[in-house]
Amino acid sequence: MTKITAAITAMGKYLPEDILTNKMLEEMVDTNDEWITSRTGIKERRILKGEGLGTSYMAIKAAEELIEKKNLDPAEIELVIVATATPDMQAAATAAYVASEIGAVNAFGFDMDAACSSFLFGMSVAAKYIESGSYKKVLLIGADKCSSIIDYTDRATCIIFGDGAGAALFEPDEEGFGVQDEYLRSDGTGREFLRAKRGGSSYPWDKDTFDKKEHYIFQEGKTVFKNAVFNMADVAEKILTRNNLTNEDVTWLAAHQANKRIIEATANRIKLDSSKVMMNIQNYGNTTSATLPLLIADYEKQLKKGDKIIFAAFGGGFTWGSIYLKWAYNS
Ligand code: UT7
Repeated sequence: MTKITAAITAMGKYLPEDILTNKMLEEMVDTNDEWITSRTGIKERRILKGEGLGTSYMAIKAAEELIEKKNLDPAEIELVIVATATPDMQAAATAAYVASEIGAVNAFGFDMDAACSSFLFGMSVAAKYIESGSYKKVLLIGADKCSSIIDYTDRATCIIFGDGAGAALFEPDEEGFGVQDEYLRSDGTGREFLRAKRGGSSYPWDKDTFDKKEHYIFQEGKTVFKNAVFNMADVAEKILTRNNLTNEDVTWLAAHQANKRIIEATANRIKLDSSKVMMNIQNYGNTTSATLPLLIADYEKQLKKGDKIIFAAFGGGFTWGSIYLKWAYNS
């Protein structure tokens, strides 16, 4: 019997119009363009503004772009997964709303949260549904309105994060394209170093604690940085070794866009030339669950059938991992 693999067959993306530049941040907190650029690689990020607009707004736009480009009947989509750390609401699946709004009337939907690794882990889940033969069209959307949990007086976090969404359609492939291998990890002792503490079940909302700003993201940057560098490089190297790939074999590295220096360290560990490293952090900052699909969407026109892509991510939890995927189409 022919082995079924899970291939990405279409991409879509959405970025809010409002731009927050380093220069604008200079007016808001004690920082400067030179520091942000040299320490992170970020020049600007997008911010979603508008009463009542949440993550679903961007997820829907990204999915709609994909549907239009692929000329897809949304009624054929069987599953919608929204990978996000900032769902619209605490207790209603954002994915269910997104599915209904895009006309995926025959689909079921659920959200997935593994912080900045949400899309990577979502790729694994989408692939398993396809490989098992259960479903033939799985829409995975990575979307985050990071600005909704950022304190714009905290220079340690407000310079990094941005909003955005990217969507990928997964379908069965019988020629061997798509997801080849994965190595996914987590370590819960890391949650003290990167988290939005208040608003979940352990520390619910409380009017007296609002002023403590515990509902915003807190990050101990240096600790997260060290762990991200070590672990992303480690899993990328493991994926190469396990699949007998040399740096020559790899066409692209698609790494979570949290900090240019972390991405470069990962590329250096696997001795990858910088021309093979996808990079768009300068334009969007860290969009959490949206970084990987936004990278692929931005590089889509340069991708060729058969390209060997190494995905890698690291995020809160801690969560991290790497996926090896063979690209399935020419644009
Ligand atoms: O996506 C999830 C995973 N997240 C990440 O991977 C993020 C990982 N962490 C990082 O990217 C980096 O740690 C940051 C970009 C957050 C910070 O860069 P850093 O090189 O680790 O800086 P630092 O926190 O060690 O601070 C160095 C100096 C300090 O001053 P002193 O003590 O040397 O005088 C900070 O107070 O830079 C200062 N500083 C700033 N200066 C200007 C910290 N933030 C800023 C700022 N502007 N925004």
